[in-house]
Amino acid sequence: MCGIVGYHGKDEASDKIYRGLKKLEYRGYDSAGMATAGNPSIKVDKAVGTVDNVSPEIDGTSGIGHTRWATHGGVTKENAHPHMGEKEKVAVVHNGIIDNYAEIKEEYLDDVEFTSETDTEVIPHLLEKQLEASRSIQEAVENVIEILEGSYAVSAVLHTGELIAFRKGSPLVLGVLEEEYFIASDVTPFLEHTEKAVFLEDDDYMIINGDYEIYNSGDRVEREVKEIDWDAEEASKEGFDHFMEKEIREQSKTVKRAAFQDRSDMEEASEMIEEAEDVYLTGCGTASFAASLGARYLRDAGVQAHTEQAHELEYRSDEINEDDVVIAVSQSGETADLLSLLEEIEADVLAVVNVVGSTLARTSDHTLYVNAGPEIGVASTKAFTAQLAVLKLLSSTIDERLEEGREELLSTAEKIDDVIDDNSETIRELSDYLVEKDHAYFIGRNHGYDLAREANLKLKELSYIHAEAFPGGEFKHGTLALVEDGTPVITFLKDESFDDIHSNMKEAHSRGADIISVGTKQAEESLIHIDIPEDENPELLEVVPFQMASYLTSVKKGNNPDKPRNLAKSVTVK
Ligand code: F6R
Repeated sequence: MCGIVGYHGKDEASDKIYRGLKKLEYRGYDSAGMATAGNPSIKVDKAVGTVDNVSPEIDGTSGIGHTRWATHGGVTKENAHPHMGEKEKVAVVHNGIIDNYAEIKEEYLDDVEFTSETDTEVIPHLLEKQLEASRSIQEAVENVIEILEGSYAVSAVLHTGELIAFRKGSPLVLGVLEEEYFIASDVTPFLEHTEKAVFLEDDDYMIINGDYEIYNSGDRVEREVKEIDWDAEEASKEGFDHFMEKEIREQSKTVKRAAFQDRSDMEEASEMIEEAEDVYLTGCGTASFAASLGARYLRDAGVQAHTEQAHELEYRSDEINEDDVVIAVSQSGETADLLSLLEEIEADVLAVVNVVGSTLARTSDHTLYVNAGPEIGVASTKAFTAQLAVLKLLSSTIDERLEEGREELLSTAEKIDDVIDDNSETIRELSDYLVEKDHAYFIGRNHGYDLAREANLKLKELSYIHAEAFPGGEFKHGTLALVEDGTPVITFLKDESFDDIHSNMKEAHSRGADIISVGTKQAEESLIHIDIPEDENPELLEVVPFQMASYLTSVKKGNNPDKPRNLAKSVTVK
């Protein structure tokens, strides 16, 4: 979704904001812009495309910036944020959706000439009018919040230099230094300056002017200053061409880190699960495939575990009762579809999440951080394997073999780089092959089906090749009709279902499919085979070559693997 950065301090704001926005581009890259305070009016620069198209040299020591993922209104310069009030005394950036923007226009702003098609533009106009009519900035902000309906994270700069921020349903974090403050959608823009962060709660609003003050419902509130132990280095490319490649390569380290969960945290989580009547694992996209594999791991440990993607599970949320536990899996902890489901249920929530201080982490009954560090590539890689590691460890804890489970994960982590290096020629050959294709099918059974879904998602979101994943048993019930000479059928040859999935592979092969296989055993039908060593946690090894192959295919196609078209990292709208 959109990324917000604000700066108030003693240095040039535009430089700090520009650098911060570069870190947030993964949240949206349709257009970008920034505004700095200045008398008599605010200075703005904005452009279609990435932050590189915006000038980092507008002067002023207080300002805001934005990188946009379009929801209301097309991708145009007019619709790019920041948006200004008519008198150019207020500029606003916004992430989220203002549901009642049409009513606001009619009721409060019928004399205003709008310059964009966005829902956002009502905010600066409202704020400007309220500032004129109110006795204080605080009163004006309160009045605006009273009027707005929807989900939003908003930051505004006034021409006199004050910075304002308020949120409801979308994240906002304050970075705190000596006499310098950052506002951002997440911690990555200010990690290079400070590790001190304050996470705003829903309905909080903040005014920064020399110091910062946070209010909620008219009252001044204190929010804890947290230390973020994420390394700024981890949020940089460190010599790799793309974040995605770096993040794939980091996985031997991140899986180890995920395996070092605190024993008492794991025991508390396993108690929650054992005492629950029913256990649901959920998430969206890649995280939903981790949830689905997690459900299989828990069922292996004897737990009644169900799984469904959050946006669908919400339609039967009334089946989830207060004696159940919902395990919510998410990299960002801000995914609207997931948070919306959790709002509907009374069951306890166990979060398996990466981003420290995210809404999911703060609102859950118990949190297991996967500790993958900042994941900047829009396509999830290291967060996925870290989620698998934590879920597998949870299953081992329930089985009363936490330490053995941990040792096994550490040993798996050691093999991740070898799987990439030993198969590097084959992975390259696979990407050379795929780049020529328009369609691809992925099949697998049981755990292999979840891997097929994840590998399929990686390929299509990065390369834009049409790809679909099926349970091996399902393929022959219709989709086989699409197989012709040279159709790629990528098969997860898992040991436990080898004979059955091998049959499905042969059914495709005999209709002319090119078979690409992955597993410990090669089948004679394979055109390309990726070899995986025997391991206790095979899924963590089997997915990695497809992350790399999808990455290489994307690069060969001239796409930007860090920023696939139309997508954004953190999807904070439903
Ligand atoms: C795909 C991908 C997405 C996310 C999904 C959920 O590579 O990254 O499918 O997994 O949008 O996001 P989180 O994990 O932040 O809840």
